[in-house]
Amino acid sequence: MDLVIIGGGIAGLTTAREAARSGMSVTVVDPTPTHGASYAAAGMIAPLTEYHIGDERLTPLLVAAAHVWPAYAARIADESGLPSGYVDHGTVVVGHDVDDKAELLRHLPAQRALGFTPEVLTTREVREREPALGPNLSVGIAAPADHAVHNREFLAALLRACELAGVEFVYETAQVTAIPHLVQCESQQLRAEHIVVAAGIDTVRQAALEAPIRAAIRPVKGQILRLQADRRTSAMPELTVRALVRGKSVYIVPRPSGEVVIGATVEERQFDLGATAAGVFELLRDARAIMPSVDEWAFTESWAGMRPTTHDHLPIVGASTRSDVHYATGHGRNGILLGPLTGLSMAEYLRSGVMPSPMSNASPLRFL
Ligand code: GLY
Repeated sequence: MDLVIIGGGIAGLTTAREAARSGMSVTVVDPTPTHGASYAAAGMIAPLTEYHIGDERLTPLLVAAAHVWPAYAARIADESGLPSGYVDHGTVVVGHDVDDKAELLRHLPAQRALGFTPEVLTTREVREREPALGPNLSVGIAAPADHAVHNREFLAALLRACELAGVEFVYETAQVTAIPHLVQCESQQLRAEHIVVAAGIDTVRQAALEAPIRAAIRPVKGQILRLQADRRTSAMPELTVRALVRGKSVYIVPRPSGEVVIGATVEERQFDLGATAAGVFELLRDARAIMPSVDEWAFTESWAGMRPTTHDHLPIVGASTRSDVHYATGHGRNGILLGPLTGLSMAEYLRSGVMPSPMSNASPLRFL
């Protein structure tokens, strides 16, 4: 076959769909496609509110990735006949105390220098825009272009679009081997012209791959909660709300169904997917500090994922030192946002041998 992709998360599946539609024969190998970090995520499409000081090289990639999303989501919904989950209801950021306010305002000059237009709001103005917010706020900032997607709905639609495009699936773990073009699965070997490693954090377990690439990726655990609000009896937000509460970040992402996602912890841990009492406690404590109606919602799920995070926060997308092996991994906090652009860029690269801009900034060769 033309292409084997190790990993059936958003990066692997968008690459699979694009490559299959350009005429390649494609197999995705994953024991549980769509159920890794892509499933854990909240689905933020948020280049402004995911900006961290120092991310100047990452931000243009996030902005380009956000532009791709609306049309991509519509195409996947069309092809699959399933909802894309994309919503464009915008984001507000709030601070809880005066130090949170100072910290949020500190980011504004750098954000404006990158071309963003964050709008500073009084606490009254931000509560008018999002009435579910409580009174204990110090500042508001509007980010109407930061959107969200119901990531689990989108993944289901994307999986269906892949099947319809002729992508085959092998539900097993797989290792790249030292033998060119050969992938070892649990029960079989696969040979392909190209191998794409889109395995998220499991990339580090691929012993045949370059050690500096594997060393450049580390797991950053994120615990995330799902609750269910009943609009008839409690206030629920209409906008995505991000907050800094006593120096800690929390976000509250509403879905049209009444589901509300609250996330996420940021934990420098080795491979660990356990939900902890402290993780659940801290997220609920910080969310209810700015939105008291959290107390009234039904608690439905705590989940954890591992963000495959690189030293420079850019993903690892493109060539390896082997002509048969390529990477689409290391997406850190922005896997959902970067998913469609990763797939489109990878398909173009596999076709032409040249990675288009701006994804060319994410070349794996920077670590080699
Ligand atoms: N992008 C949100 C997170 O990583 O928690």
